[in-house]
Amino acid sequence: MRIVLLGAPGSGKGTQSKLLVEKYKIPQISTGDLLRAAVAAGTELGKRAKAAMDNGQLVSDEIVLGMIQDRLSQPDAKNGFILDGFPRNNPQAQALDSLLARLGQPLQLGLLVDVNHEILLKRLTGRRTCAECGQMYNIYFQAPKVPGRCDKCEGTLQERADDNEETIRKRLDVYEQQTAPLIAYYKSQNKLRRVVGEGDVQEIFRNVVSIIEGHIHPLATLRPVTMPPLAAKPKPVTVKPQPISAAATGKSAPQNAVTEKKAAPKKTTAAAAAPKKSSTKKAAPKKAAATKKAAPKKVAATKKAVMKKAAPKKSAAKKKATPKKVVPKKKAAVKKAAPKKVVSKKKAAPKKTAAKKKAPVKKAAPKKKGKKGRR
Ligand code: AP5
Repeated sequence: MRIVLLGAPGSGKGTQSKLLVEKYKIPQISTGDLLRAAVAAGTELGKRAKAAMDNGQLVSDEIVLGMIQDRLSQPDAKNGFILDGFPRNNPQAQALDSLLARLGQPLQLGLLVDVNHEILLKRLTGRRTCAECGQMYNIYFQAPKVPGRCDKCEGTLQERADDNEETIRKRLDVYEQQTAPLIAYYKSQNKLRRVVGEGDVQEIFRNVVSIIEGHIHPLATLRPVTMPPLAAKPKPVTVKPQPISAAATGKSAPQNAVTEKKAAPKKTTAAAAAPKKSSTKKAAPKKAAATKKAAPKKVAATKKAVMKKAAPKKSAAKKKATPKKVVPKKKAAVKKAAPKKVVSKKKAAPKKTAAKKKAPVKKAAPKKKGKKGRR
């Protein structure tokens, strides 16, 4: 398990980290603790870090990254780690990703411990830490039984140098400006999860564990869960022949279509063959119409059954087949027959009408004349 705990100063990163160490038996790596130890030991690194820490500012990336690289190389970090207070800005987050990539141990989770900032001041000014065992207390929320004494080891409780109101406010500003952007950084990697850090410590811890086990552990256990669908894939292949015969009988086509993906096109090809037979008869239009009505049902069923790519081919085949059988004949018959009639009517008409118009005049005249003459 490789996780980063994100959160403002006093959000409870250290408190939750210690509980995680007990549960998962992996080390808490706190840059704040490492720096305070260096300051206390009076090392060169500690001397360089002290001024920034006392002022509520971040220690230089160079110092912190060197420290982290050494710590992550220790044998106890090979089985996982909880990073508390690191990374603190974008360059640190990118450096961590590179380092973990080189180690072949990419980060799995960035867990944001989210607390209203109004609460933080009281948490930090009230914090007391055992100098012997590191157990944390808060004179407002989790006071020790005996003031100034650790409940566990009776060690002396100490107040941190940077837990004064002025420095706390600077630390909160630095968090907002430099560390809060990491929320978006891990969100973009789909590694960010959030836990509300207010309320009972144990209740928060249960939520933390739930998030961790929901996010990290299932990654390992998902494999057997995904296996059944993979193993089930060959089934449709073995049942291939069924949809073909089902298509021929026209029974249970939708069911086959749902289970059979590859066989579905055969049904439509069979359906497409039907119009060919009907096209040889004069009654073809009626049969073709019947196939038209039936065909959409099969096509619709196959579409729902995942035959998205095949569906257009089917419908296209039917569309092409039907016009050839039905429409062309009717149109061809009308077109071929019509011109003859129309042409003959048009050509004949003038002759008839001309004859009718001219003849009566010409013929009538003589008749009248004749009649008159006869009369
Ligand atoms: P660091 O030691 O990391 O301090 P921090 O980030 O400011 O965080 P804190 O340790 O103060 O708070 P926390 O979230 O751990 O809360 P905690 O559990 O203790 O850094 C200190 C300095 O070192 C920095 O300012 C910087 O100068 C330097 N530094 C460190 N890392 C660096 C880096 N990567 N790059 C550059 N510089 C770096 O809880 C706080 C209090 O609240 C306790 O009293 C606790 O008992 C109480 N509490 C916790 N949970 C609850 C709860 N649910 N209800 C009531 N009280 C609670």
